[in-house]
Amino acid sequence: MPRTSSSLELLVALRRGAGPLHGQLEAQLRDGVRDGRLASGVRLPSSRALAAELEVSRGVVVEAYGQLAAEGYLMVRPGAAPVVGAVPAGGGPPPPAPPPAPPRHDLRPGLPDLSAFPRAEWGRALRRTLRDVPDAELGYPDPAGHPRLRAALAGYLGRVRGVRASPDRIVVCGGVAEALRLTAFVLRERGVTAVAVEDPSHVETQGQLVYGGLQPVHVAVDEQGLDPRAIPERAGAVLVTPAHHFPSGVVMAPERRAALVAWARQTGGLIVEDDYDAEHRYDRAPVGAVQGLAPDHVVHVHSVSKTLAPALRLGWAVAPRPIAEALAEAKRRSDLGTPVLEQLALAELIERGELDRHLRRVRPRYRRRRDTLVGTLLAGRADLAVEGVAAGLHVAVRLPPGLGEEAVVTAAAARGVAVATVGQHAAAPRPPALVLGYARLAEDGLRAAARELLAAMDDVSRTCDNRHDVI
Ligand SMILES: Cc1ncc(COP(=O)(O)O)c(C=O)c1O
Repeated sequence: MPRTSSSLELLVALRRGAGPLHGQLEAQLRDGVRDGRLASGVRLPSSRALAAELEVSRGVVVEAYGQLAAEGYLMVRPGAAPVVGAVPAGGGPPPPAPPPAPPRHDLRPGLPDLSAFPRAEWGRALRRTLRDVPDAELGYPDPAGHPRLRAALAGYLGRVRGVRASPDRIVVCGGVAEALRLTAFVLRERGVTAVAVEDPSHVETQGQLVYGGLQPVHVAVDEQGLDPRAIPERAGAVLVTPAHHFPSGVVMAPERRAALVAWARQTGGLIVEDDYDAEHRYDRAPVGAVQGLAPDHVVHVHSVSKTLAPALRLGWAVAPRPIAEALAEAKRRSDLGTPVLEQLALAELIERGELDRHLRRVRPRYRRRRDTLVGTLLAGRADLAVEGVAAGLHVAVRLPPGLGEEAVVTAAAARGVAVATVGQHAAAPRPPALVLGYARLAEDGLRAAARELLAAMDDVSRTCDNRHDVI
């Protein structure tokens, strides 16, 4: 039987007695470059290392590399490992399309000021974690989350949001997105099929519940938030953003909060409270979480996406005990748990008061940015109206009659300004409004963006006037 030798690093295998070895090697590497498996710029092993691994003489590899270099597939320099070159014309998959150019002024909501991420503090916390974490904790994590982070979160959420959390009610996971998806799985297992969601509400968060198998039923939000009396009977749960509705920015009125809790107590339905940006309130202290009023009827979901950075993908659910146990089991079945080093770094940040200090630093900055954006827009047009309270990282701005969302989005894009709309998140028709994120731009940038946006609105008004003239 012919003997085969292979390289694990390059996924090539040579068979003795199946033709010249250098020819086999050449053909397999050439195919690898052509089909994109060996991408341009990838370093190959030195001829000595590859020959040793394939158990062939070095001359076999030198000959193959030399031929591929002559054909343009490899770039070889004396004393350096060869590097895969650009695929010669005619071969290889089409190059990926270049990413679209970023807008000149990005007012889309969703992100905190990423340049404010506390890199030094996070770096120190990670280094301390690496130094101190016992070897035994580098195995599979507790699927409910590291006990140290759960203890730190219990204290933090109680203090900052009035959440009644004990560590055994907390499940750490990959952001609000995963907390919602796991909650949907658990609800499905308990026979729930439909979930009431605010209309409008974030398409992504709603989408996580749908992905988890639940059918959304839309309930309108007005200036008082969602009206619990309108939750249909078939909904076994309701997803709400009571502290700061997304996208309108209204706060759920106290009577509605009480009615929501009464609904849960009477029907056995579950309140899913998305507290996504509650740490950011600028005009007064934020209302406490609904969870604090009825801990046995609420799954409270929250994350560091608005306080630190979404890239961390760290969030949690605080749930009634039986649901917390089911969530931890769903998390275990889903991916065996959340990365431990980052959990411990976050615990460090909370325990040392670094998260509080970071929030104290960024809050006044966000407030100034909101004031700048809103002030510039309202100074430019008195017919715009701001919805909701001074909180969070976005503001909804009602457009006057005659200015449609789509027309303004298109005109703004033509002037290099990217914006979102309430309509993108709404099921039923609503008065047209823009949703603008202000956290990422400094005040000068916000003024410039707001001026371009005002000019875009003028462009739309002019086009409409001209159309009327023609008619
Ligand atoms: C309403 C709402 N909830 C939650 C989140 C955060 O989701 P995650 O924690 O998965 O990043 C966002 C982010 O944009 C949001 O807008």
